[in-house]
This record gives sequence, structure tokens and C-alpha cells, in this order.
Amino acid sequence: MSTPTSTPAPQPIATLGGASSGPVLSAHGITKRFGGLVALNNVSLEVPPRSIVGLVGPNGAGKSTLFAVLSGLLRPDAGSVRLGDDDVTTQSPQSRARRGLARTFQQPELFLSLNVREHLVLGHRMRFERRRLWKDMFDAGALLRSDAFEDEHVDGLLEQLGLTRLASRSVAGLPLGTSRLVEVGRALATAPSVLLLDEPLSGLDVHESEQLAGVLAGVVRESEQPVSLLMVEHDVATVLALSDQIYVLDFGEVIASGTPDEIRRSDAVRAAYLGGDDTVPEADLQIEIDAEIDAEERS
Ligand SMILES: Nc1ncnc2c1ncn2[C@@H]1O[C@H](COP(=O)(O)OP(=O)(O)O)[C@@H](O)[C@H]1O
Ligand SMILES: [Mg+2]
Repeated sequence: MSTPTSTPAPQPIATLGGASSGPVLSAHGITKRFGGLVALNNVSLEVPPRSIVGLVGPNGAGKSTLFAVLSGLLRPDAGSVRLGDDDVTTQSPQSRARRGLARTFQQPELFLSLNVREHLVLGHRMRFERRRLWKDMFDAGALLRSDAFEDEHVDGLLEQLGLTRLASRSVAGLPLGTSRLVEVGRALATAPSVLLLDEPLSGLDVHESEQLAGVLAGVVRESEQPVSLLMVEHDVATVLALSDQIYVLDFGEVIASGTPDEIRRSDAVRAAYLGGDDTVPEADLQIEIDAEIDAEERS
């Protein structure tokens, strides 16, 4: 007779997240009020499997509020959030994380005492060996052993993110672009079905932005474990170039959604971004056209 062990054996990554072909993450009729202010009004959104979904909109449109509702930091006044087939509207951020939702923050939150690889090990253990993670940290103050499953997962991700060369580097003093990659790596090491990215390109120079955008596109296209990205990003040109689907929020409402081409052609989007009157200032229009040309050249 076998006795149950306290630490469950790690599941093969491919079986996590369910086999359902519906959206990996969806929001239905989300309304969120702050006092008298309606920050989100009946917002619905779907993130299909293995896709990049962009969320854009002017300042104050409700993007951060929607992220907080999706990740469980805020409870909506109405509406529901689903992860795969599960209604998670009332679940904590931790419970959503265990069900395959990961997120990054605008300011990367890294541990200065850990090297690049250890950040990914941390992500991996948060998902697969949580007990051992805490035991190691308490007993030894360090991440101790690893096994073949962990090594293969972590080293594969390092390779995919172009971080192999930096694996043993401390994260202290890394350029912002590399820190973002490490944060993305730690989030991906939790084997999420969907990763929420809060302005992943902010503060990066052109080269760093292109590198990160390329890595993100590669992760979604090539990962063995299907993963989708939902990305809030100010850089509209990059969102247009990178996303399969885009949602545009303005004053708490979805004013447009669709493919990049549909969004480019949307009058509502032009109005929201360019001030809402018919007399579009030449200079603004030129900036937008330049951005589109840039995006086209990059793709
Ligand atoms: N905790 C809060 N308390 C009160 N008002 C808030 C709070 N968070 C956001 N808001 C308001 O909700 C609206 C949407 O904000 P936010 O989601 O941060 O927009 P975005 O991220 O698109 O810039 C804004 O008018 C903002 O001032
Ligand atoms: Mg915001």
C-alpha cells in the first residue's frame, strides 16, 4: 500500500491548461465603478489560444482597471471573468495564477540577490514545486537542487528568450530591456496559458523594443506549451504590428475591436486618438502615418 506523498509529482507541462479550444481568458460585461466614476462600462473581451491580443486606449480609458479585474486585484461591480472554462470572478490572484494566469508589471520586480536563471527557477517552482521552494529558502536561504524536468524547462526558456549567455549574471545592473526579458521569463516559467503584459515596451529604446517584440512573437508562435499574450501598450505601432486582435478602450468602453487592419480603418479609433473632431491636425496625422509606415517596414 502506498501512502500519499505531501508533494504532488510534477505534471507534464503539456497537460496543463486543459484542451478546450475556446478562449483561454475572457471577460463578459465587466463594469467597475470608483464612487461615481464608471471606469469600465460593460466591457467584454476574449483572448483566443496561442494569440497576441492588444489593449490600447488613451490615458484614463480603463486599461489598468481592466487588467486588475482580470488578474483578480479588483472585484468588478458586474460581469464575469473566465480562465478557460472556469469562472474565476471571485477568485484571488494566487488562485488565478495556479490556473494559468501570469502577469508582468510596468516596473520589473526582480530579486537582486538572484541571478537570471534563478528567476526562472523561481517561476517554475512557484507553479510546480511550491513546497520545495519555501523549504529550500527557509532551510538553506537558497534555491537548492534541481531535476531534469526543471532543467529542461528553464534552460529551454532561457534559450528561447536569448538569455542563455546571461544565465549566471546577477540581475543587479542589467539594462531595462534585459530586466524585462527576465521578468517575462519568470512569468513564462510558471507555464501560463495566458500572460498579461503591462506596457512591456515602456522605457525601452528602439533596439530593445524590437528585440522584446520579436521574442514575444516567437514565444506565442513557437512554444510547445500554448500561451497567449494580452498586452497593454502605449506604442500603438508595435501593437498593430504584433497583435492578432486589438481592443480599443475609451472612457471605460470598448469603442473598437478587431484585426490590426480593421483597427487602422476605424473612424472611432481615429476620433478617440486625434481629439474627436473632423479637423484632424496635419501634424498628428503625419505622426500616425509615420508610425504605420514604421510598423509595416518592421513586419
Ligand atoms: N483606485 C481608484 N480610485 C478611483 N478612481 C480610479 C482608481 N483607479 C482608476 N481610477 C480612475 O478610473 C479611470 C480609469 O483609470 P485606469 O484604468 O488607470 O486608466 P488607464 O490605465 O487606461 O490609463 C480613470 O478616470 C482613473 O482616474
Ligand atoms: Mg494605466
